[in-house]
Amino acid sequence: MKTPSNYQTTLQTPATTGFTQTTENSPKPQASFHMPDRAALVTRPFGLLTDTAAEAIVQGIAPDLSQVCADLYTALATAGTSASAIQFISILKNLRNPDPAAMRRFMKNPQSRYVLVQNDLLKVVLIRWAPGEYSGVHGHAKGGCVFKVLQGRVEEKRYEPGTKTRPLAVSRFTKGGMAYIDDEMAYHDVGNPYDAMAISLHAYTPGIRK
Ligand SMILES: [Fe+2]
Repeated sequence: MKTPSNYQTTLQTPATTGFTQTTENSPKPQASFHMPDRAALVTRPFGLLTDTAAEAIVQGIAPDLSQVCADLYTALATAGTSASAIQFISILKNLRNPDPAAMRRFMKNPQSRYVLVQNDLLKVVLIRWAPGEYSGVHGHAKGGCVFKVLQGRVEEKRYEPGTKTRPLAVSRFTKGGMAYIDDEMAYHDVGNPYDAMAISLHAYTPGIRK
């Protein structure tokens, strides 16, 4: 198991002037986590988890991220009109390694993408990236997106806002690395140029783009 001393977070936010990266080696301990029981999961705790995600978690073929989803939703719900994915940063920063056995099973799971949560306020997606796989260039609405690498390495190519052809920067993120983006900052293309599989968690607000 990784220890706080070898855990690294690479973070990009609007406050870091463009694409500067910072590293922290000693994050705060994560809040205690209580594994929801099977019945609670399939009835969607907090009304958050999608049925498909809840079933996958119960089957052990996707990691149980229900607590972090609840924390993300709570942060938005209490932020009112100032709700932004920036509020996800501290929560995801403290997200430690999901259950290794469930992660191993997710690596072999035929389904490589789960929408864990989708409502007006919040969308959370768990994605496994095969070598060579990319999302394609896209933008994120005003509230923005934060993603975190849970396993392997992920590359993010940024483009001038509103364009898919004017490159701005390329960043590579190892396990624990995070980035924030919204349409005013850039568009981006996220993917995996490496030989090994990668897994990342993506959280957006609003949850449904209108
Ligand atoms: Fe994205």
